[in-house]
Amino acid sequence: STVDWEVGSYDTGGYAHFLLKEIHEQPGAVERTLSGRLNERFATAHLGGLNLDARELREIRRVKILGCGSAYYAGEMGAQLIEELARIPAHSEPASEFRYRNPVIEADTLYVAVSQSGETYDTLAAVQEVKRKGGRVLGVVNTVGSAIARECDGGLYLHAGPEISVASTKAFTSTVVAFALLALHFGRIHDLSPADGRRIVAGLKALPDQIRKVLEQQQEIEALAAEYAHSRGMMFIGRVRGYPVAREGAQKLKEISYVHAEAYPASELKHGPLALISPELPTVALVPDDELLDKNLTALGEIKAREGRVLAVAHRPVEAKLADHCLVVPKSEPELDPLLLNIPLQLLAYHAAVALGRDVDKPRNLAKSVTVE
Ligand code: G6P
Repeated sequence: STVDWEVGSYDTGGYAHFLLKEIHEQPGAVERTLSGRLNERFATAHLGGLNLDARELREIRRVKILGCGSAYYAGEMGAQLIEELARIPAHSEPASEFRYRNPVIEADTLYVAVSQSGETYDTLAAVQEVKRKGGRVLGVVNTVGSAIARECDGGLYLHAGPEISVASTKAFTSTVVAFALLALHFGRIHDLSPADGRRIVAGLKALPDQIRKVLEQQQEIEALAAEYAHSRGMMFIGRVRGYPVAREGAQKLKEISYVHAEAYPASELKHGPLALISPELPTVALVPDDELLDKNLTALGEIKAREGRVLAVAHRPVEAKLADHCLVVPKSEPELDPLLLNIPLQLLAYHAAVALGRDVDKPRNLAKSVTVE
């Protein structure tokens, strides 16, 4: 069985689809996720529902994040944020696999369950498995009072508002923002300096306006989507912070346009997927202005040398010999950049799906919330 929203009780508010409406609701969703949670004085996040005090948090040696679909990919971004800001080893795993490998539950591991709906059966069952073995689970959940939220020991609600379209956009973004808050909070209990804490607080506050800037590029992205939608498939590449962005970008395109998409770390191209590169299989490349910029640009050269077409999503224009097209996204703090780099990929998937005449809000074979195994 599946949970269906009563679509009739909401409307698309003048947008062609719920998905487009939800993409455009992201600045407000992020503001709500942040609301009342930034503590400027101590350069940290105030999170009232964790049910863990500073001493208990200090004892955590590992973080394991569990979710399905886009929630799992949001968890990958969350794991990177926690490792970077708090220097606690963190890892995201599909909740649907977790309980089948008789997982080792350790007392000093914190489990975090991620779910927009809070009703995904696989995620709920993973939470129950952790709890049965005495582990501690936090929930990062959108729907207040949902089954997963009730099962967890504490957590954070997203407050992103209802998400109707099957493919997750605003809940995804709010989930990553929630992880940034969690990582900031953990970080400031560990070794994140006040200066770095202030840097992240300022970066978070700037996000809503920066998302608005990306959304202003919609027409340009629509034109690009029309050009790429008819491809045989698409490759998404990124490195380190860009890799979860590539994975979520590929997922979104598959879900709503039914165009096959692969996501790879750019560093892995030469170990296999380079064989796929041809004019019929364009590449979307995440090229943030970070310490891997030169290596990312080298990867683009390798693709262009094989006549692959490249759409770069970058912080400054990429030269024409390395990319056929380039979308320039505002720069945030390096740890928060993945959030903004993901937004154009949502619009790309949306417009590709529209160009191909797909049922954007209700893609074939998928449900908003899968409440059976
Ligand atoms: C379904 C949806 C996905 C979603 C996943 C997890 O498979 O089709 O879009 O990411 O469930 O949903 P949740 O509500 O747990 O975040």
